[in-house]
Amino acid sequence: MNSIKLVVLGSGCVGKSSLTIRYVHNEFIDKYDPTIEDMYRKVVELNGDHFMLEIMDTAGTETFLAMRDLYIRNGQAFMLVYSITSRTSFQELEQVKDQILRVKDVTVAKLPIIVVGNKSDLEPERQVSSQEGENLSSKWGIQFLETSAKTNMNITAAFEHLVAQVQKK
Ligand code: GTP
Ligand code: MG
Repeated sequence: MNSIKLVVLGSGCVGKSSLTIRYVHNEFIDKYDPTIEDMYRKVVELNGDHFMLEIMDTAGTETFLAMRDLYIRNGQAFMLVYSITSRTSFQELEQVKDQILRVKDVTVAKLPIIVVGNKSDLEPERQVSSQEGENLSSKWGIQFLETSAKTNMNITAAFEHLVAQVQKK
């Protein structure tokens, strides 16, 4: 079985672990527990092919930023996560995208990447409009989805988009 190394990146507290845990275990945890580094595995079937998806759930806090180069070097597919309730987390994605391009030394079109605006259930606290998410992603030539780990909105779609991209390349 082919394995796919997927890396989940983005600022602290945007929901990287929550998205991963929702996808792998179909659970949602309200409590915030900052990640150092966690790895999850899930067998995924897409168009008749089976893949061992290895999801690297990374730390958002600055302390572990130096680790990012390593994760990116080892990764094949990337989920770039911000929270729709945090403009800062949205702005910080550009750095992450640039870091991926620098480490991989290719254009974005050659990489399986998705931009994810999480916490879409928190509409009253929204700071980043869907249109802004769309605009940024289309400027970068990357697919975009808003998700909610809490309500399970678009979680499977986001992960399987990446699997499909790897399958195509
Ligand atoms: P770091 O590991 O520190 O980088 O954080 P993270 O990006 O992994 O965030 P985490 O998944 O730990 O979630 C942070 C907080 O946001 C937790 O209290 C979660 O319950 C909450 N949260 C995550 N996703 C959602 C969501 O879609 N909706 C709502 N309402 N809360 C969410
Ligand atoms: Mg985490």
